[in-house]
Amino acid sequence: MFYPFEPYKIKVLESVKILNKSERVKMLQEADYNLFKIPSEKVTIDLLTDSGTSALSQGQWSQMMLGDESYASAKSWERFETAVKNFTGKKEVIPVHQGRAAEKIIAEALLEKNDIAFSNSFFDTTRANFEHRGAMCIDVPTEKSADLSKPKLFKGDIDGKKLRKLLSRYGKRAKFVLMTLTNNTGGGQPASLKNVELAASITGKRGLKFIVDACRIAENAYFIWLTEQKRQGSIKSIIRKLFASADIAYMSTKKDGLANSGGFIVTNDKSLAAKLKELAVLYEGFVTYGGMAGREMETIARGLEEVVEPTYLEHRIGQVAYLHSELSKIAIPLINPPGGHAVYVDAGKLFSHIPQNEFPGQALAAALYQEGGIRSVEIGFLMLGQKAKPDLVRLAIPRRTYTQSHFDFVVEVFKKIIANKKEYRGFKIIWQPSSLRHFTCKLKPL
Ligand code: F0G
Repeated sequence: MFYPFEPYKIKVLESVKILNKSERVKMLQEADYNLFKIPSEKVTIDLLTDSGTSALSQGQWSQMMLGDESYASAKSWERFETAVKNFTGKKEVIPVHQGRAAEKIIAEALLEKNDIAFSNSFFDTTRANFEHRGAMCIDVPTEKSADLSKPKLFKGDIDGKKLRKLLSRYGKRAKFVLMTLTNNTGGGQPASLKNVELAASITGKRGLKFIVDACRIAENAYFIWLTEQKRQGSIKSIIRKLFASADIAYMSTKKDGLANSGGFIVTNDKSLAAKLKELAVLYEGFVTYGGMAGREMETIARGLEEVVEPTYLEHRIGQVAYLHSELSKIAIPLINPPGGHAVYVDAGKLFSHIPQNEFPGQALAAALYQEGGIRSVEIGFLMLGQKAKPDLVRLAIPRRTYTQSHFDFVVEVFKKIIANKKEYRGFKIIWQPSSLRHFTCKLKPL
């Protein structure tokens, strides 16, 4: 596969640190083999997350200088609100400082103890915020997603038939249906427009709210444009259709906002918006900044315009597909097909000599750092405990940040690892907190 042509040139440089192997071994020991604890300046290629790690364009940097930091009704708020309305087609905009703040506000406005929410798959902060209200979260992913390796289209769909049954079974306890676009938990896989509209109609017929988590909606729309729409119409119009299906949508602009922070909630429902705004003032800040600086709102306003450009999205999705294709060529087991923002490695399969309770995903993540200074994240037994099905390692690609040689280097590091894979061992936990252990736990190699 050809590497897609970068539709930009480099103007500002950020040096990357290249350590030697013995320095990296020492860093791993000092960090108790927990990659979250490695200082970022000791990381050569950081694929921990695509969230808030995007490079800003010259348009965004120059716009930042126009940041109006007035507390209320700043010019930057006006620009932000206009851009969000233009991007989403919705009338009411509630600003928040990041995605999970929107989740907390929506949870408090809509959920009571014992209520139930349904999704193609809840992202972990979404689930945590909803469960924190005493509600139950049920994932209803399409059956297509069960086989990780089969390259089926739209593995981010929700299972419509099952959703109908569950809504009937739970009756009044069912509160809303949420589609995560793209489905991060399920491999960054997109949902089809047809499926989103079906889910919205099933939900609407029961008088329930349909919510969209839109943090990667431009990437999702690109997949729809490419396949379902056969390159007809504009990507922006598909994004608008996806938003049109939702009663409420929210977005962490740290992803497809091409920004380092921020977020928003949108709806056309005025009375619901009034309720959400009350909570937003309580938790986030006044309704014309929501915890964001004026200059941050400027970068987001501009980012929402840049993210819909077909040349940008073609390169973005192509870059992820390139890394996926090069790793496939050397037989690294992956979630297929490539998703929108990351490549997911089936570490349980790759390191089949390491049993699940010895954390094969963490063993691969540590090996990637040791051999090449690459930081990734384990999504498996360490992060999810007993709930983990496959032990995955996510290689998330920051937007507009790395180039082909960086990805070729990642592939070379994988080659090195598979040449001696039996040498890599599992881990045991020597200390862990009571929850979310992957962030702070201490590990020891076996
Ligand atoms: N929804 C999805 C699908 C996400 O991927 C994230 C964050 C959030 C909501 C929460 O947004 O971070 O702005 O509070 N995902 C990041 C990741 C952390 O690495 O995948 P946030």
